[in-house]
Amino acid sequence: MDWLNLLALLWLIAGNTTLWVAYVNRTHALPLTCGTLHRLRRVHDVMIILVPLLLIVGLGLTGPKLLLGGSWAKLTPFWWAFVGVCLLGGMQLVFVTIRNILQRAPEQLIDKQSETIDIADKLGAKPVEPGKYYRLAMLPMNEQFEVEFNQKTFQLESLPAELDGLSILHISDWHFMGTLSQSYFKQVSDLLAQEPVDIVCFTGDLIDSMKCVEWIPETLGKLKGKYGNFFILGNHDWYQDPDVIREAVSKIGWVNVASETVELEIDHAILQIGGDETPWMGTSPEFSEIAHFRLLLCHTPDNLQSARDSHVDLMLSGHNHGGQVQLPLVGPVYSPSRFGTQYASGIFWEAPTLLHISRGLSGRHPLRYHCRPEVTRIVLKAVEVSPEKPHEPGVD
Ligand SMILES: [Fe+2]
Repeated sequence: MDWLNLLALLWLIAGNTTLWVAYVNRTHALPLTCGTLHRLRRVHDVMIILVPLLLIVGLGLTGPKLLLGGSWAKLTPFWWAFVGVCLLGGMQLVFVTIRNILQRAPEQLIDKQSETIDIADKLGAKPVEPGKYYRLAMLPMNEQFEVEFNQKTFQLESLPAELDGLSILHISDWHFMGTLSQSYFKQVSDLLAQEPVDIVCFTGDLIDSMKCVEWIPETLGKLKGKYGNFFILGNHDWYQDPDVIREAVSKIGWVNVASETVELEIDHAILQIGGDETPWMGTSPEFSEIAHFRLLLCHTPDNLQSARDSHVDLMLSGHNHGGQVQLPLVGPVYSPSRFGTQYASGIFWEAPTLLHISRGLSGRHPLRYHCRPEVTRIVLKAVEVSPEKPHEPGVD
């Protein structure tokens, strides 16, 4: 056995896998039907098994017999082209790993408090129903039930002094399907309802099975922001029946902001809230000049450039679930985005927009490793505050 060549072949296999994962991530960012996405994913499933077999058999054991003492000089032009493509994938893997290691929260994040609550412990059992993906939910060390209750304080130059201290509950991607039982979502909602908040925002992917629409009043219906609750839908709602889902959420008093904007006047400052469900539904909202602060609810973070063009101050997104499984050093792997894993979750400052991407609370697949579900209370701090509302000492 030529161990050095074995390592080289393993590297090529990793590069090939990286390329097919990139293909799945990019195609799943498109507004395609479930059936089409399923078929595209099958190509990925076949190729990440077939190509390694080809490399081991075609290069390692036959042809140039690299695993049996053969030489790279015997590779045909076809194999050199094949190896070249895999090497490109390997370089991409190195790039993604370095980017993940170097990633830091922007300076606008001035404080973060976090508490992890094991919902299964609180309920006395894992809140799972028999059915699709039941076994995934029951896997050992699965973090699906360990919910992170975060509080993140952002200081923004563009925040008017009148809005200093404004709190926003950002929740996303609850994916009611039936595998995770209603008690899981009720428990999280009950815990969230204990903490007063100014505004509640939901950024899409509520329903994965229409039979769960009836859960809405007992879950989202428990939450109440001082200035209101606002929502948009996501691609998974689009796969179901978005009109019925939208009506059910509106019925409990939430304001649908999809493709439009609403204005709130708070202490004479106008906060404008818009919603963007593109590329699956509607259009991007048009913000007006009268707004002192622009808040955008946008399911996918892929629309960041459009938000920046609209001078959005704070953009809230979900969709990518943090990848749900994050590998050591490499970070997230699967993220249905035009940018791959770059915006899987986290906080990003791309002037003039601060982007907060939630890892969401659930997903079609109830599986999480190194990527806990999250709910986040955002507190906004102004750089300059009015004399009536001085900064709390010690916070800045
Ligand atoms: Fe989602």
